Amino acid sequence: MTMSIGDRNKPTMNPTEPEALDQTGQTDQTVVRVENLTKSFEGRQVLRGVDLTVERGSIVSVIGQSGGGKTTLMRCLNLLERPDSGTIRISGSPVFADGKVLIEDLAVLRQRVGMVFQRFNLFPHLTAIENVVLGQRSAAKVPEREALERAAALLKRVGLAHRGLAYPDQMSGGEQQRVAIARALALRPQVLLFDEPTSSLDPEATREVLRVMRELAAEGMTMVLVTHEISFARDVADWTVFVDEGLVVEQGPPAEVLVRPAHQRTRRFLASFDALD
Ligand SMILES: Nc1ncnc2c1ncn2[C@@H]1O[C@H](COP(=O)(O)OP(=O)(O)O)[C@@H](O)[C@H]1O
Ligand SMILES: [Mg+2]
Repeated sequence: MTMSIGDRNKPTMNPTEPEALDQTGQTDQTVVRVENLTKSFEGRQVLRGVDLTVERGSIVSVIGQSGGGKTTLMRCLNLLERPDSGTIRISGSPVFADGKVLIEDLAVLRQRVGMVFQRFNLFPHLTAIENVVLGQRSAAKVPEREALERAAALLKRVGLAHRGLAYPDQMSGGEQQRVAIARALALRPQVLLFDEPTSSLDPEATREVLRVMRELAAEGMTMVLVTHEISFARDVADWTVFVDEGLVVEQGPPAEVLVRPAHQRTRRFLASFDALD
């Protein structure tokens, strides 16, 4: 199903219709619900009680200083990192609670919660199309022919119909990242996480990748986007979350958080980008 931007459900912190809530206080439109998530590395807490809600069809941008815990938060969402405490629900299904992993099949979780990494993480010995086929075959057990057809269609969609037989080291960074996006889309995720997808790209490649992401946004894809592209976040996101030192310091519509931040720490962060006048 495609949605126009106007149909998109904005994330709301105070849903006004109580009958739309289940016992856990989430609407059936909630794709990601994280509560009080903590995670330590070597005795140091890098997530100190994070809450995050992502509604279906919305685009949430996550911003903050390097080292603040953004990547760890993204990795916890599909259990690439195991949290210490707190809860994670994906589309209403409990994934983590009471210190325990509650989902039996991690492959199913990673199908639902797709991820695009900063450094692409393509298999170097596989062509572009093979990279897009592989996850479908292994994680989603898609029949070979269907997986190939889907991969070809997705490479076309990210503007790489002509690059299917190229190996990663024969492609530019922007091309590799677009293959990585096609690979994630191939599993038909309920939400797609992007962790600084353009931070290792030059301006031209950044534009290519942002264009693809903008198209996905317009098609109604639910996305969480960790980014330093502040103007992109302002244009595309419905909701912005500022994370600092393992906590959500402030969140709201981008026109507020990115333009009139309430907190000194947010202001200082944005000032370092010259994002504020
Ligand atoms: N696997 C790890 N082992 C030890 N420390 C880690 C690990 N991953 C992240 N950290 C630390 O956790 C903190 C948060 O890191 P990260 O989530 O990558 O922040 P961000 O993405 O906001 O830059 C940093 O201090 C980082 O050094
Ligand atoms: Mg990071």
